Amino acid sequence: MNRRFQTILVTGGAGFIGSNFIHFLLEKADFQGRIVNLDTLTYAGNLESLAELAVKFKGTRYFFEKADICDRAAVERIFASFAPDAVIHLAAESHVDRSILGPEAFIKTNVMGTFTLLDVARNAWKGRHDVLFHHISTDEVFGSLGDSGYFTESTPYDPRSPYSASKASSDHLALAYYHTYGLPITLSNCSNNYGPFQFPEKLIPLMIMNMIEGKSLPVYGDGKNIRDWIYVEDHNAAVWEIMKRGEAGRSYNIGGENEWENIRLLDRLVEIVAEESGKPLSQLRSQITYVKDRPGHDRRYAIDCSRIKNELGWKQSVDFDDGLRKTVRWYLSNPLWTEHVRSGEYLNWMDRNYAVR
Ligand code: NAD
Ligand code: TYD
Repeated sequence: MNRRFQTILVTGGAGFIGSNFIHFLLEKADFQGRIVNLDTLTYAGNLESLAELAVKFKGTRYFFEKADICDRAAVERIFASFAPDAVIHLAAESHVDRSILGPEAFIKTNVMGTFTLLDVARNAWKGRHDVLFHHISTDEVFGSLGDSGYFTESTPYDPRSPYSASKASSDHLALAYYHTYGLPITLSNCSNNYGPFQFPEKLIPLMIMNMIEGKSLPVYGDGKNIRDWIYVEDHNAAVWEIMKRGEAGRSYNIGGENEWENIRLLDRLVEIVAEESGKPLSQLRSQITYVKDRPGHDRRYAIDCSRIKNELGWKQSVDFDDGLRKTVRWYLSNPLWTEHVRSGEYLNWMDRNYAVR
């Protein structure tokens, strides 16, 4: 099987993974059709991430629709005007710390928004099999690992933050729409992504920006929590393989097979930023500050991604050191992007919630 799509509706295309996915599809992938980017532009959405593509492909292969996925009438209108034959659903509230401080938006967008999209797709596609709804999820739905073991596709769900609970709920809804209504669904659960265009509240871009700006580098707890890191383009290439050749009704784990303790990762990142920016290594190291732990902080995530490797032949291509260096260079060369994305709501939010830093 090799699905071919004419019009792909990308939700959350102005966010980190979504904007990289649109770049990937229009610039690198074997895709000749058009893309409709549906995004409501929360604090995390920034159309500047797509500025050049929007000029190059506007009205031919790239369309932007500002809409909330919870707004059924708007989603129906977009389905009716563009008749997409695929949806890749990335739109979400995505930051664990925000979900702890204010879970409601997570339930609205991640649960109700996903439900709305699924239901509109079901009505619009009415039993068609030549279409696909790919739902993007996270490894966080599986909970927290001890020192050993890996998440597989059959690991029972055990979400522990409002963010992961809302994503788990959306995953169940997506699969329920496959089993109940026959909506062609594929699903992927990926580990921590990093790369360009990531909002600087997540660990890697936050630390890079704080290093550049001479601010403290807040390490939660003992710094020994472990995450598995994957370069965003490797994630997107994996998703594209699933969309083309994945089996409907199935989920696929995607990971970097690249586990790092947070503090070890930060030590390496400090060295790379020192090399790339010319800032003294000792000064950057002195900015590292241990702070109060995140409540319910999952200890370790690790992914077994043998299904997608064995069945679809995907593998990671970006070495972690190279990916980190590319990412650091990108943030050093794009200060305006960060300035714009952080203006307004983000800075106020940080001041309100993390003034202590
Ligand atoms: P992000 O926060 O950078 O972007 C989310 C995008 O969704 C933004 O452009 C935002 O404007 C949009 N959005 C939010 N609410 C919306 C709504 N109600 N209607 C329409 N648009 C809305 O997130 P990201 O890091 O790019 O993550 C994308 C997806 O990938 C999410 O579903 C997330 O759960 C999943 N995921 C992320 C990671 C990661 O490491 N970042 C890992 C695994 C899975
Ligand atoms: P994050 O990027 O928020 O991703 P997630 O919580 O979804 O895995 O955090 C990655 C890890 O880094 C996580 O263990 C929490 C930790 N962390 C810090 O130590 N300090 C920080 O300022 C942030 C944002 C995260």
